[in-house]
Amino acid sequence: MIDLNLSGQTVFIAGGTSGINLGIAECFIDQGCQVFIVGRKQEKLDQAVAALNARGKGQAAGACTDVRDFDGVKAVFQACAEQFGKLDVLVSGAAGNFPALLNGLSANGFKSVVDIDLIGTFHVMRAGYPHLKQPGARVINISAPQAWLPMMAQVHVCAAKAGVDMVTRTLAMEWGPKGILVNSISPGPIDGTEGMARLAPTPELKEKTRQSVPIKRLGHPHDVGKVALMLASDLGAYISGTVIAADGGWSLAGVSGSMNALADLGQQMGFLKETPA
Ligand code: COA
Repeated sequence: MIDLNLSGQTVFIAGGTSGINLGIAECFIDQGCQVFIVGRKQEKLDQAVAALNARGKGQAAGACTDVRDFDGVKAVFQACAEQFGKLDVLVSGAAGNFPALLNGLSANGFKSVVDIDLIGTFHVMRAGYPHLKQPGARVINISAPQAWLPMMAQVHVCAAKAGVDMVTRTLAMEWGPKGILVNSISPGPIDGTEGMARLAPTPELKEKTRQSVPIKRLGHPHDVGKVALMLASDLGAYISGTVIAADGGWSLAGVSGSMNALADLGQQMGFLKETPA
């Protein structure tokens, strides 16, 4: 087993009270890190902090704010600094999503998602920067395939996440000379998350989604957390400005989804056969 040498590092996770971000927090705490998580609701935050501390390694703490509130974001970074000191790893993962066609979306609906995902990422980067260890800090933004893969009923998320990836690339250039590496992780369909519940709300849709992943399984939050560990450790020492998909190949299938459906049908009907070489 590789020793990632992350024990004692300080990790700040915006959005760390549930889903993918909580899974990332679990991965870091299991490495013996000091993990500071941020969410909107006190009760959910308290539960997540208690669950992280109950894992018996590292140390967890947290504070509440909405990433749309810049002063609130500054305050939670200050609270983290007072408790754990400078940051080795900054994860920006707070996000909002719901399916809606453009013509079913109010101006405020579009703005809410852009405010959380994109402006929220800016707030976390802008307010977090003075707290980053220089050199050495690693910044990880949580993106989505929607950043480059157009999806119907996701115009708000597509626009916001495309912006997030450009923030990643731009900061990799601006902060690289200071010894800070900046990357995005793009998770695919991750089981048990609010995002999945919203986008695939029935067992049938969930099964269809699973079938659409080339490796035929939905992801686990730790599938994303392990990529975050890699980016935070010496394994990621020369990676900056990239968007790494943790999606079992799902985004590739998304692009050619209709061709895959035809190929599946062709195989079932016997038109397409696999033959030995
Ligand atoms: N279809 C169309 N519009 C919708 C919608 C839907 N399913 N859900 C929300 N909206 C619109 C609302 O109507 C509102 O616009 P309006 O003022 O013109 O009516 C706007 O979005 C904001 O909704 P509101 O509930 O007031 O916002 P909020 O700030 O409390 O919540 C959201 C933000 C909308 C993103 C909410 O879904 C959220 O809190 N999400 C966080 C969790 C999450 O999405 N997790 C998955 C991450 S992948």
